[in-house]
Amino acid sequence: MADYQKIAHALQKSEGEPVHIRGWIYRTRSSGKLAFVVVRDESTIIQVVAEKERLPDEEFAGAQKALIESSVDIEGLIHEDERAPGGREIHATSFRVIQFAEDFPITEDHSTEFLLDNRHLWLRSRRLTTIMKIRHTVVGAIHEFFRSRGFYEFHPPILQPSQCEGGATLFEVKYYGDTTYLSQSWQLYAEAAVFALERVYDVAPTFRAERSKTSRHLSEFWMAEMEAAWMELDEATQYAKDEIKFVLRRVLEHHERDLAYLGRDPEILRALLDKEWPTIKYREALEVLAEHGMDVPFGKDLRTLEEEELMRHFDTPVVVTHYPKETMAFYKPRDPQHPDEALCFDMLAPEGYGEIVGGSQRSTDIEELMESLEQQGEDPRNYEWYLDLRRYGSVPHSGYGVGVERLLAWICALDNIKDAIAFPRTVTRKSP
Ligand code: 4AD
Ligand code: MG
Repeated sequence: MADYQKIAHALQKSEGEPVHIRGWIYRTRSSGKLAFVVVRDESTIIQVVAEKERLPDEEFAGAQKALIESSVDIEGLIHEDERAPGGREIHATSFRVIQFAEDFPITEDHSTEFLLDNRHLWLRSRRLTTIMKIRHTVVGAIHEFFRSRGFYEFHPPILQPSQCEGGATLFEVKYYGDTTYLSQSWQLYAEAAVFALERVYDVAPTFRAERSKTSRHLSEFWMAEMEAAWMELDEATQYAKDEIKFVLRRVLEHHERDLAYLGRDPEILRALLDKEWPTIKYREALEVLAEHGMDVPFGKDLRTLEEEELMRHFDTPVVVTHYPKETMAFYKPRDPQHPDEALCFDMLAPEGYGEIVGGSQRSTDIEELMESLEQQGEDPRNYEWYLDLRRYGSVPHSGYGVGVERLLAWICALDNIKDAIAFPRTVTRKSP
């Protein structure tokens, strides 16, 4: 078979060297005897010059007539030309159209909704291609981070009989005449796993029926979670900081140009690597807010507005710990020193990107767990298996979850979380 080069590779060749590429037409214009066809592949774009004199008639006619997104297979010689994107173009010696595309529905200046309706086609845009590559690196880095620290990858069930993060956002699934739910978190199962594997992590689809339309919420997202036996709150927050820094480092290693293409200045991210990321208590966060005229009573969750105000006073991500116990998920333990606070944390991203990590130590007190479940209208009998974990060799343990799309939205400075996932699912969108 013919040997092809990636376009990025072809762009490194010198004047007169032969190349063979394949891809899709990105832009095209032609005059009588010349066609200028910009071709893209996964790696980048290059301009191809098709000249009537140098090609068989049929091939030149194809080059002239092929519309954008037609698939093509091209051989030619590299010509160095400063005006061409990438400083080189290909003078075609062979121009084969694999499929002549119909009129591509996406031209310029379309509404966001139109692009979402045509997501299966918009996926090919350089913008989404670039974001998906960075996503690949982010998820790869998360695997690398945990595996290199002795964590095992562990897979929980996705169909689960009960809630972990509150009944209000559960997606119900018909189950042989009965009902079950899509996973809101792997956590309860990971807590079972730490008694076998001690340190576990995963990256998996997660589902929340989020009825609010915001630029931060998806109904289906990917969460990277970890759970560790013998770990308390402090160590878990340190892990979260180390993990996010590790991910940033990998992204900066591989995607400096991609970030710049997306309009994100890589130096802003690089500057975070050598800084200490503060940990503050929720109570201290309230003080900062009060100093700036925002009075939030103890016990209230921080809303977007308040998180944004708080983060104006920091230039790195911040870990906020010890949120009020009463508003928290049932498994978050009371702080024995401050019984109205829970041993839990969120990590907030700078620049208004909000919560990217949520985690906690886990309550090991059966009475406290049953009481919290009842308070939230749950029947503790449905959690017997979970309570068993406190009956047979219970140990202190902690864990947290990173929202992959939240993290990516911040890293890439995206306006909306929907661009952090290929086919977003929200309250108003379930296709394509
Ligand atoms: O803070 P959350 O709800 O924490 C948990 O689910 C814990 N059980 C995790 C654990 O301790 N293992 O969710 C964790 C993170 C959030 O910080 C956020 O980044 C992301 O998941 N997240 C969402 N991302 C996109 N769309 C949504 N609807 C999200 N809900 C949470
Ligand atoms: Mg949370």
